[in-house]
Amino acid sequence: MARNLLHCLHCLLLATSSVASPGTYARVVEPRTVSNTSYDFVIIGGGIGGLTVADRLTEDPNVSVLVVEYGPFDQGEDSVLIPGAYNPFPYLKQDLFSVPQPGLNNAPEFVPVGSVVGGGSTVNAMFFLRTTSEDFDSVQTLGNLQWGWNGFLPYFKKSENFTKPDPTFAAEHNITFDSSFHGTQGPIHASYSPFDYPGSKNFWDATLATGISALEDPDSGESTGIFWLLRALNPDSETRSYARIAHYDRVIGSRPNYHLIPNTAASKILFNGTKAVGVQYITRSTGAVTNVTATKEVILAAGAVHSPQILQLSGVGPKAILDKFNIKTVLNLPGVGTNFQDHLDLAVSYNFSSNLWPSADTLVNNATYNAEQRALYDATRRGPFTLILTTGNNIVNLPLRNATSNWQSIIALAQSQDPASLLAPGTDPTVIAGYKVQRELLLKRFAGFRTPIGEISWNTGSTTTIYIVKPLSRGSVTIGSTDPLANPLVNFGALKDPTDLELILAIFRKNREIMQRPSMQILGPTETVPGANLTTDEELKASFRATLIPTNGHACCTLPMMPLKFGGVVDSELRVYGLQGLSVVDNSIWPIILSGAPSATVYAAAEKAADIIKKRYGLTSSG
Ligand SMILES: Cc1cc2nc3c(=O)[nH]c(=O)nc-3n(C[C@H](O)[C@H](O)[C@H](O)COP(=O)(O)OP(=O)(O)OC[C@H]3O[C@@H](n4cnc5c(N)ncnc54)[C@H](O)[C@@H]3O)c2cc1C
Ligand SMILES: *[C@@H]1O[C@H](CO)[C@@H](O)[C@H](O)[C@H]1NC(C)=O
Ligand SMILES: *[C@@H]1O[C@H](CO)[C@@H](O)[C@H](O)[C@H]1NC(C)=O
Ligand SMILES: *[C@@H]1O[C@H](CO)[C@@H](O)[C@H](O)[C@H]1NC(C)=O
Ligand SMILES: *[C@@H]1O[C@H](CO)[C@@H](O)[C@H](O)[C@H]1NC(C)=O
Ligand SMILES: *[C@@H]1O[C@H](CO)[C@@H](O)[C@H](O)[C@H]1NC(C)=O
Ligand SMILES: *[C@@H]1O[C@H](CO)[C@@H](O)[C@H](O)[C@H]1NC(C)=O
Ligand SMILES: *[C@@H]1O[C@H](CO)[C@@H](O)[C@H](O)[C@H]1NC(C)=O
Ligand SMILES: *[C@@H]1O[C@H](CO)[C@@H](O)[C@H](O)[C@H]1NC(C)=O
Ligand SMILES: *[C@@H]1O[C@H](CO)[C@@H](O)[C@H](O)[C@H]1NC(C)=O
Ligand SMILES: *[C@@H]1O[C@H](CO)[C@@H](O)[C@H](O)[C@H]1NC(C)=O
Repeated sequence: MARNLLHCLHCLLLATSSVASPGTYARVVEPRTVSNTSYDFVIIGGGIGGLTVADRLTEDPNVSVLVVEYGPFDQGEDSVLIPGAYNPFPYLKQDLFSVPQPGLNNAPEFVPVGSVVGGGSTVNAMFFLRTTSEDFDSVQTLGNLQWGWNGFLPYFKKSENFTKPDPTFAAEHNITFDSSFHGTQGPIHASYSPFDYPGSKNFWDATLATGISALEDPDSGESTGIFWLLRALNPDSETRSYARIAHYDRVIGSRPNYHLIPNTAASKILFNGTKAVGVQYITRSTGAVTNVTATKEVILAAGAVHSPQILQLSGVGPKAILDKFNIKTVLNLPGVGTNFQDHLDLAVSYNFSSNLWPSADTLVNNATYNAEQRALYDATRRGPFTLILTTGNNIVNLPLRNATSNWQSIIALAQSQDPASLLAPGTDPTVIAGYKVQRELLLKRFAGFRTPIGEISWNTGSTTTIYIVKPLSRGSVTIGSTDPLANPLVNFGALKDPTDLELILAIFRKNREIMQRPSMQILGPTETVPGANLTTDEELKASFRATLIPTNGHACCTLPMMPLKFGGVVDSELRVYGLQGLSVVDNSIWPIILSGAPSATVYAAAEKAADIIKKRYGLTSSG
């Protein structure tokens, strides 16, 4: 059971206090009903990408937009809004599991996706983090000249409202930043929790003692070292800042041209020849089927798991799959649903004989403390309820070379693999070619000092989480039926490339080194999972296969922005190759998974996408 859930979420199941009560923060929003069956733009999916683009396009009062969203509106539950009451489960798609993963002892794995207005931004852990500028160099190298870091930075700023921390608190807790990289006028709040647990200092000091440096600002294009996490957090209310508030509630009163229907599944994109002309959708409560016309474009934003499913159901994808289900081919596009990537997530557990009090566990284990701190939060907006439950504030981002002296042999192992044999039999040659160029780029990054491949975060309590953020393995999303309400077949492809196990091992051993330093030893840690008695590489790798979670909810890259000859699906202006009137604006578009948590970059990419689409149709930005 535990294995099938994100481990930090697993901890939440133990929480005694996370029962949501509506209350002070509840807001009721009447969904706007569809008053017309024809719109300029119909957007599939009201998550980060979809709502950001809907907001920006409807700045032009002469443009009409409909967002079709599978999930409901949240009801302002504490579990959504209050960081210390965090519980994503109610708004995750409950029944979505992967196909069995041979690399993980054949386990099927839970696939976490937000199924709610706001998508992932309503359920995520609020890590608000960019990535290394080298990730944008890679996007450029893979055929997208106008997607470099310098041209993208203005969109990061546009999307963000950064609030500086209190200077005294920042100095005491090593929070550093460079304001010149941040925006202060954007819709999404970015701020630091005004609270930390005392153990953070021990972890910080131990990390520095292993030779890892502190980073001034991870949003500067440099992203390696130890640093404080920014969160998508409103600094006045200390509540979640997310797409539903920032890109719907904020503007809806003044935008009669912006419609959204919740609880509605887009079932297919309608084509006239190769031009997308509308969307067919199903009202989930009644099963009623409706067609809506898009006079300018259909915009796909259902996330990296569902966007490729919808394209395949609509007749766009690898022809063999379409034929298997007797779907009329609109376009044979081999890349659709390939190139699936996610961050890997490994929980390491400890018993401490003399940990500092309180820690991130205290809110979960001690009901008196929880009640006392909740009262403090309600009265003053301070204390641990400003910090996402079970998480810490510090994170260490590591290039391979800073994790292990063994980096050259790991790169050599990767080079010795045959890329084609790591993909499913019958994979199109263009997709294989794209995988090869990705691997060459990645291995160049592995040999450098600027791209994190792994991350370590101790939550100050019983858990350290290790994330692998540049896996070499690739998975896929394909339809398993023609029923639009059925889940697609998600294959993480976890650990298909054995090099990925070596990456985990390298970061895992670096974490053990940190825990061995005096400032952590003073707390008396005993590693209980995988277990201090596991010491050989083989023992550790076997335990990783048994406990690794192949996702951090960061699914991406299934409709990549790459040339057609590399298995790409969208061009540099986010248009699906070979079709007219169809764009993609979600986390599906990246060729290679970003090293940072994705949400900050998806907001910024959607801001850029909106500008591209506005320019295409000569739309205005007033309003
Ligand atoms: C549990 C969890 C924790 C996470 N933690 C973090 C974090 O701390 N920091 C971070 O940066 N990122 C985090 N993420 C990831 C981040 O939230 C996502 O990467 C991001 O939301 C992706 O944006 P998107 O626009 O691609 O898709 P989404 O935001 O997922 O939006 C897609 C929307 O499409 C809808 N949809 C799907 N199918 C259909 C259909 N057929 N018809 C209509 N609508 C449909 C979905 O309901 C959803 O609302 C987390 C994700 C999860 C699930
Ligand atoms: C629906 O849209 C059409 C064309 O955009 C417009 O002429 C018509 O008045 C609209 N109808 C309603 C009920 O809004
Ligand atoms: C508004 O849109 C309509 C229909 O698309 C178009 O005919 C008209 O010229 C537009 N008006 C302005 C002010 O852009
Ligand atoms: C940015 O956030 C601050 C702090 O909440 C707020 O006072 C300010 O109005 C916000 N700016 C914008 C443009 O929304
Ligand atoms: C801050 O960093 C300094 C070293 O630069 C270290 O001595 C100190 O313990 C750190 N404090 C915290 C709270 O991380
Ligand atoms: C990684 O190692 C290099 C070379 O020793 C060093 O310059 C760099 O600061 C290290 N990076 C981090 C994040 O510690
Ligand atoms: C399909 O497109 C063609 C060519 O643009 C047009 O003539 C025809 O009317 C369209 N059909 C429908 C059903 O809209
Ligand atoms: C919706 O469009 C499809 C495909 O063009 C068509 O077969 C169907 O009859 C339409 N349904 C309605 C209710 O208009
Ligand atoms: C639980 O929290 C209360 C209130 O802060 C504290 O007094 C008590 O010592 C804590 N109990 C344990 C076992 O830590
Ligand atoms: C960890 O602590 C728990 C509870 O005190 C105990 O039951 C368990 O045996 C300990 N495990 C190890 C490996 O020390
Ligand atoms: C490590 O310890 C655990 C728990 O005591 C035990 O189940 C396991 O067999 C041990 N493994 C090895 C390789 O010693």
